[in-house]
Amino acid sequence: MNILTVVGARPQFVKAAPVSRALVRAGIKEILVHTGQHYDDAMSAVFFKELKLPPPTINLNTGSGSHAIQTASILQGLDRYLDELAFLPDYVLVYGDTNSTLAAALTAAKRHIPVVHIEAGLRSFNRAMPEEINRILTDQIASVLFCPNETAVQHLNRENIYNNVFCVGDVMEDSMHFALSKLTDEATRLEWLQLIPATYTLATIHRAENTNFPARLRDIFAGFEASGANIVLPLHPRTRLVLEKNEIKLPVNVRILPPLGYLDMLTAMKNARKIVTDSGGVQKEAYWLGIPCITLRHETEWTETLEQDRNVLVGSNAVNIAHQINATTALQPRSQPYSTDVVANNIGIFTALGVAFLV
Ligand code: UD1
Repeated sequence: MNILTVVGARPQFVKAAPVSRALVRAGIKEILVHTGQHYDDAMSAVFFKELKLPPPTINLNTGSGSHAIQTASILQGLDRYLDELAFLPDYVLVYGDTNSTLAAALTAAKRHIPVVHIEAGLRSFNRAMPEEINRILTDQIASVLFCPNETAVQHLNRENIYNNVFCVGDVMEDSMHFALSKLTDEATRLEWLQLIPATYTLATIHRAENTNFPARLRDIFAGFEASGANIVLPLHPRTRLVLEKNEIKLPVNVRILPPLGYLDMLTAMKNARKIVTDSGGVQKEAYWLGIPCITLRHETEWTETLEQDRNVLVGSNAVNIAHQINATTALQPRSQPYSTDVVANNIGIFTALGVAFLV
């Protein structure tokens, strides 16, 4: 049995790490293909190092481009690589909802190689999002679908996808606990990042639905300014480009940081007063860490995080953003919608992989 895994963007490195370890434990050979969608050290190499993900077997060096160009380049690059292999993999494993996910799934399906999709069944029901198109199409052509929660299973069932659907818990939670166990130098990291626990709001912004509309970005920053809060913003390269191009000035209460590695980001998240984000992964991490989250979107795929105002949706409305940043949020102990605990979650993935691959 051998598996060819395709990753390309930052959140996929986080998702792949615990599964790679589970595959090693199960004695399954893995070929790791990096599409090169994310290529800066801060967006890629640091995640491999910190999460102990083996170096990629090959990098397709796709780089940036329009959605069509990026997707087409991965299709061609992966197809050529499959031609070069002495044997075809038994499965192609893809994660999440990026252009790398869809391109890899399509390349494999056209060659009749069964596709395994981890984080299947997520839906925002907003087809203007590139990620929504990527996930719907990937789920349609996947042969084995691993869902993080029952809501995702129901979404698949509603689209008439029933076969080989497994609810296995959330691999990002495994990754987070693995990384937390390696976080032995938190005080040094806080000092380096110049962060004092519980005194700052951590923000991230990178979604096309915000960055493609400078007026929305201006509204978000107006909300940050009106809050008067101490806001720290590790800046995604996409957002940096849009800010520069549109000459958008940041308010004085917003401090920019470079994109953070996983351990620095975990340190910054777990010590924040609040988190403001448009990222799916950060919403979940805030939820698991017990930090109140404010989401710069109108909908979320991770609806369980909305319980008891742990996560509130504000879009780009400046008044709501400022209000939510300053609101007092006392969180109650939470239920565990994604997985019972890390050990059970790991066993869940391991068992489900084993079962599915025997089908
Ligand atoms: C992609 C995913 C998104 C995911 C995000 C995580 C798609 C459609 N989107 O968005 O779902 O949440 O990754 O970060 O696949 N850039 C660099 N260096 C890099 C990578 C990107 O400078 O290492 C810049 C380039 O100018 C590029 C822009 O960022 O054009 C956007 O990068 P891209 O990979 O197209 O999409 P993301 O916004 O990162």
